[in-house]
Amino acid sequence: MQKLLIKGKKELSGSISISGSKNATLPILAAAILANDVKLLNVPLVKDIFTMLDLLKFIGIKVKVENNKRIIHLQKEKQINTLAPYKLVKTMRAGVLVLGPLLTKYKKAKVSLPGGCSIGTRPVDLHLFALKKLGAKIKIKDGYIIAEAKKGLIGTKIKFPTISVGATENALLAAFGAKGKTTLNNCAIEPEILDLIIFLKKLGCKIEITGRKITLIRNNNKNKKKINHKVIFDRIEAGTYLVAGALIGKKIVIKQINPKILKCEIDILKKMGAKIFKTKNSISILKTSRLKTIKVSTKAYPGFPTDLQAQLMVLMTQAEGISKIKENIFENRFMHVPELKRMGAKIEIRKQTAFISGPSKLTGAEVMATDLRASVSLVLAGLIADNRTVINRIYHLDRGYEQLENKLKNCKAQIKRV
Ligand code: EPZ
Repeated sequence: MQKLLIKGKKELSGSISISGSKNATLPILAAAILANDVKLLNVPLVKDIFTMLDLLKFIGIKVKVENNKRIIHLQKEKQINTLAPYKLVKTMRAGVLVLGPLLTKYKKAKVSLPGGCSIGTRPVDLHLFALKKLGAKIKIKDGYIIAEAKKGLIGTKIKFPTISVGATENALLAAFGAKGKTTLNNCAIEPEILDLIIFLKKLGCKIEITGRKITLIRNNNKNKKKINHKVIFDRIEAGTYLVAGALIGKKIVIKQINPKILKCEIDILKKMGAKIFKTKNSISILKTSRLKTIKVSTKAYPGFPTDLQAQLMVLMTQAEGISKIKENIFENRFMHVPELKRMGAKIEIRKQTAFISGPSKLTGAEVMATDLRASVSLVLAGLIADNRTVINRIYHLDRGYEQLENKLKNCKAQIKRV
């Protein structure tokens, strides 16, 4: 089992290039089922992407990865298998996103129910709600979703009871092949979903977005052409390194990003005292000597993202006074707290709110990663802690952060993988 060793208190300076977004690439890979020949650029080479590629190969898509150029070439084989087996969905819940495309294109699909994970039960009831509205017959049997639509899916009006990124994506992918017009209300409108929409437009449909309402009309020209698409940057990776800069950056330049998409994060870091300078495609951040407390609640985009909650909490441990962070999206997303407390952080949880008092001196310790974003908060804590921090189970990190230790090493962090 690999570990990360970090020797803390080394000021960071240098530049970090942000990779493509994992959470944009995953639904676009599922959308490749609707296409014939797709070339994806700026793809992050992280574990979850390769897991999704294994699933696409199983379904019958020819996959060619040009690692050094971050390019994936996907070509549909003749024989398509409309099954997504448990062994390929259990480790990566986004596998459930092949349900919409398989159903809308091949009128049937058998997809394993994704397991829960450490941050919550993560049901898919909203995904199935949307597919049923589009006319799918769905039953759950032996841990599988068995869906069919003998006469094809029919466009309709759907209003999501609550906002869900995955359910919005599955509904868009299913509506793509439905007859007529589909209107989705109360949608998630994360930048990753907007990137999927750009891809689907290239594939051949008309999509309009007003607020949280998305309207999709399939046009019937058979798409034969090759589709090229450059994946949007990873805003969560960028936000993670922004927090690193606010914690211990002499000056870090975060490159290959669009600062407009990080408005909420930038406002919060500025309010806490970090010094931030933006250009069209980069952000420079310098730490401040006195961090101010702040109260934050996680929300769907454009609010503060749940995927940065653990990272911001580390910064809050260094602010003078009591900060608050309310987790509204997942029911169990404070797994990083016990580990941070072992390093000296002063954090109390009451219901879904963490109260963080600071500044607290963190000391290196042997800690264990539990989920993707919790693990990276332990890395951030290790960067500012005295002595050495050892992080176990870093396979969680490898699911979503490309070259993390190299990107930090290039900014003078003392970090190595053993
Ligand atoms: C996506 O997960 C992201 N994953 C998550 O990122 C992210 O945290 C989440 O959106 C919220 O932004 C990918 O894009 C691959 P949801 P998803 O459906 O789609 C409940 C990471 O670290 N819900 O918006 O699963 C659900 O339990 C990952 O990269 C239902 O109740 O999130 C949660 O409480 C972690 N029924 C809330 O909605 C459903 O059918 C939001 O979930 C679906 C969701």
